[in-house]
Amino acid sequence: MQDRNLALEVVRITEAAAMASARLMGRGDRKDADRVAVEAMRVAFDAMDIRGTVVIGEGERDEAPMLYIGEQVGAGWKDASGSSPRVDIAVDPLEGTNLAATGAPDAICVIAIADDGQFLNAPDTYMQKIAVGPECRGVIDLRESPTWNLQRIAKAKGKRVEDCTAVILDRDRHEQLIGEVRQAGARIRLIGDGDVSGAVMTANPESGIDVLFGTGGAPEGVIAAAALRCIGGELQGRLRFRSDEERARAYKMGVKPEDFVYATEELAKGNVMFAATGVTKGYLLDGVQFYGDRAKTQSIVMRSKTGTVRVISATHHFPTKPLSAMGGTASGPNG
Ligand code: FBP
Repeated sequence: MQDRNLALEVVRITEAAAMASARLMGRGDRKDADRVAVEAMRVAFDAMDIRGTVVIGEGERDEAPMLYIGEQVGAGWKDASGSSPRVDIAVDPLEGTNLAATGAPDAICVIAIADDGQFLNAPDTYMQKIAVGPECRGVIDLRESPTWNLQRIAKAKGKRVEDCTAVILDRDRHEQLIGEVRQAGARIRLIGDGDVSGAVMTANPESGIDVLFGTGGAPEGVIAAAALRCIGGELQGRLRFRSDEERARAYKMGVKPEDFVYATEELAKGNVMFAATGVTKGYLLDGVQFYGDRAKTQSIVMRSKTGTVRVISATHHFPTKPLSAMGGTASGPNG
């Protein structure tokens, strides 16, 4: 993958999606906020010189008109020379649809790219996850209890468990987990949605988050693993099925037995790239700000090959940019 230039191209896609969905922030319509992000991303892909295949996207072809699993995206498919790189694409056009719909922190637009065939084709089911930043790589184990993991994390970071903070999705299914983390003495930040952000935060010392615990979407687990691969963090995940039907579908897709704990590299192998743009202001990224005929975005772009992490602030000027590149609608990006 000729990934140096690609990394900077990729961020245009998340920027376009973020500007589109940010226009609908707080309108209470999560589906619409997601729809415009998908549309903006889809258009932006056509300007990229890749032969991409969506392996994690908006669902199966019959349920998603765009960015469905198996869809081919990128200008490279139209080039008969076949010289542009073949890549796997994992997208979450709007991660935290409810967060955007209510204006809550940390809604982001996300994309991860890997060499062809390198992402786990994660079924649309749940995944139990533990994620940490680089200082705690190699010290965690999903098979062990949260208390065991917290003690190891605290030791690796040279602090007390009481000074560690876990981020956990606020769900009834996490009642026992939350109880145990409290019992262990650690601090907790409960989040309404968005465990990709939660996982990435563990690698950012400024976030104050030491670990992500809990069960969320499996596709989100693969995307978060891609991000952590780039920063040297770690995510372990175990698939959790909600029904026999889900289990059967997942096995058809070729996943490992239910108790198998996937390592970061098994979720996202090879050369990996990750980009995210903030929609709403959060702990990870600033949200989109609109002023006059401009919008300001903040994004993070990372590559596993070099470990470089770029935070990109961009000011977009609506009159001189095609609407399609701004996530614009017929009535204009501001209209
Ligand atoms: P959406 O962006 O699709 O709304 O998902 C947000 C999210 O919170 C993910 O971050 C998380 O992995 C998943 O939903 C958890 O699923 P559930 O809401 O069913 O607990």
